[in-house]
Amino acid sequence: MFSRRNGHQSLPRSLSVLVYLLLQTHSCKGQSQLIAPSQPIVATVGDDIILPCHLKPEADVVAMTLEWTRPDLNHIFIHVRRSGQELLRSKHPSYKGRTSVSIDELKHGNVSLKLSKVKPSDAGRYQCYIPKLDTGSVIELIVGAASSLVISLSGLDLNKGAVVLQCASSGWYPEPEVFWLDGEGNLLSAGPTETVRGTDDLYTVSSRVTVEKRHSNSFTCRVQQNHINQSRETKIHVPDDFFEVQSSSSSTTVGLAVSLAVCILVILILGFFVWKFSKSEISRSSLSNRFYTEQ
Ligand SMILES: *[C@@H]1O[C@H](CO)[C@@H](O)[C@H](O)[C@H]1NC(C)=O
Ligand SMILES: *[C@@H]1O[C@H](CO)[C@@H](O)[C@H](O)[C@H]1NC(C)=O
Repeated sequence: MFSRRNGHQSLPRSLSVLVYLLLQTHSCKGQSQLIAPSQPIVATVGDDIILPCHLKPEADVVAMTLEWTRPDLNHIFIHVRRSGQELLRSKHPSYKGRTSVSIDELKHGNVSLKLSKVKPSDAGRYQCYIPKLDTGSVIELIVGAASSLVISLSGLDLNKGAVVLQCASSGWYPEPEVFWLDGEGNLLSAGPTETVRGTDDLYTVSSRVTVEKRHSNSFTCRVQQNHINQSRETKIHVPDDFFEVQSSSSSTTVGLAVSLAVCILVILILGFFVWKFSKSEISRSSLSNRFYTEQ
């Protein structure tokens, strides 16, 4: 990826390849290389993190040009140092005030970048690069956020004797999956998960499931994001009497019908009085209007 300019033309070709390979592993003077971990860095939204990158063998790079860029975003500049100073002009606005390198560490060839208050949009590949040494390395940042969840009773299906449960959780990144399990750990089939992405890029998910009475009446909602290896779950126990089937002639239905009728009656009486009152108000105000216009 990073070409080396010093050739070994005087040596036979096979020997020069060997020397080159040796240089790759045991770099000697003038052949320092930037090294970054091959494992991605996993961060949680809001964290302050270090993107590690260091020169091997170490050398003082305080005065050298150093560029941190994002190769997957058209090499936008994250942090640039020239002549011993940070160059703020070319820095991408999204990273303003959030990046730093340690001068003490630069003296030892450690060009690790500190990134504060990680955002979902920070996820991606980062490259540290020193043009003078023509060496660079790439590191991946994975950003995630997980959050607790709440199960609530969202309704009763009186005809079937079933209960509708709702599970909701906000503050996830990337978008998580939602599962419902019964007391024995069997997957339940639920309606489609509703997902909303907030202005902060975090996801809010909610899912409903209709359950009927079973052996243990205990139900678990699990919200899971495999990419960041995070999952949260909550269990709810629904009491037996929530599942009772109500026949149409039952006292509850009659009671409901009576209270509905009373309600309608009250609204009608209230409406009548409001109408009467506003009518007398209008006639009074129109009278006074006429009084003024005739003046
Ligand atoms: C490099 O510097 C960072 C701080 O900028 C520090 O956290 C890290 O431990 C240093 N790495 C090495 C290998 O010294
Ligand atoms: C995910 O987390 C579990 C425990 O929380 C751990 O045992 C496992 O190794 C992790 N997997 C990955 C890929 O990080």
